[in-house]
Amino acid sequence: MIRELARKILSRVSRSADAASPNRECSEYEVNNWILSEFVLKRLVPVVGVHPYPLNELMLMAGSVCRFRPTHLFEWGTNIGASARIFHETARHFGIPVEIHSVDLPPDVEHVEQPGRTRGRLVRNKTGVTLHLGDGLETSLSIVRTMPPGGRPLFFVDGDHSYESVRSELAGILDAVEHPVVILHDTFYQSDESGYNIGPFEAVRDVLSEQDESRRLRSLSTNTGLPGMTVVYTEAPVSSTSGK
Ligand SMILES: C[S@@+](CC[C@H](N)C(=O)[O-])C[C@H]1O[C@@H](n2cnc3c(N)ncnc32)[C@H](O)[C@@H]1O
Repeated sequence: MIRELARKILSRVSRSADAASPNRECSEYEVNNWILSEFVLKRLVPVVGVHPYPLNELMLMAGSVCRFRPTHLFEWGTNIGASARIFHETARHFGIPVEIHSVDLPPDVEHVEQPGRTRGRLVRNKTGVTLHLGDGLETSLSIVRTMPPGGRPLFFVDGDHSYESVRSELAGILDAVEHPVVILHDTFYQSDESGYNIGPFEAVRDVLSEQDESRRLRSLSTNTGLPGMTVVYTEAPVSSTSGK
């Protein structure tokens, strides 16, 4: 009886965002990997599987929501809505109130990965998720401009994976937002012999190298294999205002 009660209390505690992201007043990214592992295995994998986001990337996506507590989450492209669903499930599970805005190209714009009628399939009718048609960066920044002071945007950049697109999208976010959190997909680096597209890796490297050091931008990557994910953030206190 007592053991059962203790188990229930512990499972409640482990659901809280504070337990999942300890030491938020400290400078380094930190999450509780055990709590997040349980969440990823029990709640995310049954819904979204491990494609296109393998376990280490699911951990980074969920962990970043717990760590940075965004009030607004902007992501592109929507495609079938796997990433939007991951963010929705994470926010719901850990009790983090967030508006999720997911953008994909209008159907008349040609792109190899155009989702067509499957657009947003995994997030249809999910509370707090709004689907938009348009260019990801442009649409998201137009909403950022309407955010109340103190808003904390998090961007998930997973649209066109060319060097030029990722470069202009990351640079565009860093220009518009003072303390951004940006997660970028497909950023794994391997040497030329692999034949991989390392455009996103190079774009992140180049944009970060051009930023003023006083911005204290940091980055963290899952760099053990494809597809690879990088989170870019600032050392500024997580509660600070984000609009420039
Ligand atoms: C790799 S898929 C994204 C996968 C998606 N995040 C998911 O979880 O299912 C790339 C998507 O980005 C969209 N896309 C490409 N360029 C875009 C842009 N500039 N703005 C918005 N969406 C874009 C494509 O139409 C495609 O649906």
